[in-house]
Amino acid sequence: MNSSLYRQRAIQLREELSDDYFTLWIWDEALGAAGKPGQFYNVRALASLKNAQNSGKIPKLFKPISIFDNQGGRIGFMIKKVGEGTAALSKLRAGDMLELIGPNGNGFPIFRGKRILLVSGGIGYPPLWYLQKELINHNQIYWMHGGACQGDVFPSDEIWTEDGSIGRQGRVCSGMLENINKYDVDLIYSCGPLPMLASAAEISKSLNIEHYVSLESYMACGIGVCHGCAVPIGAKNDWEYLRVCKEGPVFNAEEVRWELM
Ligand SMILES: Cc1cc2nc3c(=O)[nH]c(=O)nc-3n(C[C@H](O)[C@H](O)[C@H](O)COP(=O)(O)OP(=O)(O)OC[C@H]3O[C@@H](n4cnc5c(N)ncnc54)[C@H](O)[C@@H]3O)c2cc1C
Ligand code: FES
Repeated sequence: MNSSLYRQRAIQLREELSDDYFTLWIWDEALGAAGKPGQFYNVRALASLKNAQNSGKIPKLFKPISIFDNQGGRIGFMIKKVGEGTAALSKLRAGDMLELIGPNGNGFPIFRGKRILLVSGGIGYPPLWYLQKELINHNQIYWMHGGACQGDVFPSDEIWTEDGSIGRQGRVCSGMLENINKYDVDLIYSCGPLPMLASAAEISKSLNIEHYVSLESYMACGIGVCHGCAVPIGAKNDWEYLRVCKEGPVFNAEEVRWELM
């Protein structure tokens, strides 16, 4: 562990978004100045001493969580409860301590004067929220977000749900072509589950549109040591394994060897 990146910070605020989603906020100006859209922290719940002693259960692994918001040192993490680690994070309250390693990885490249399509699925939403805040003053943006059901979707220009409980019914990539044509899109950013990103990459490739994806991957160390998160990146006949946690999580969609993932 790189101790220069390890910190403990008190939760300043916790917000409940739905049954499964919540946000944790910390305030730290130096960390705020260091973070960029697309970067993430490895986080772990360090419950208050009393809680920890009472429960005797603090998950050992750090979990990669994107920077959801970052303004003037007010840093937010939007989290979906899916397993043990995120369930432990969901129990944190204001005043409890969060362990953090980061910011990690390379963020999204930032452009100006573009007609941008943002495409997110499920828990791909948080990094694109921070990204659109950085892009909005200098670009035209249209944001499509999809999820399994109403509980998985959040404010955006266009919502898709697989069960049709809100917005348009189907998978979010189904509407990409229509919006690319309607808004004359010349740049795409996406984040979400792998099959969604692969479909989005196929569409951008067929239309020769520049596209940056933020890959989700299982991580062990989360800091570039174990190579457990490596993915094939490069030209079709000249690729190498790069680490999502170090060289990623953002890659040029055209360079991801989707056929080998
Ligand atoms: C770079 C990066 C940024 C991320 N940003 C966020 C974020 O901002 N907010 C957020 O809520 N989550 C984010 N995630 C996903 C988050 O890290 C996982 O949901 C979390 O590690 C699950 O840990 P757990 O102990 O709760 O569940 P586990 O017990 O580890 O897993 C529970 C279930 O979730 C599945 N799962 C776990 N991790 C992943 C994954 N990476 N991809 C697909 N399925 C998975 C498992 O197969 C299992 O079914 C991010 C992941 C990466 C790699
Ligand atoms: S998770 Fe260990 S190198 Fe990326």
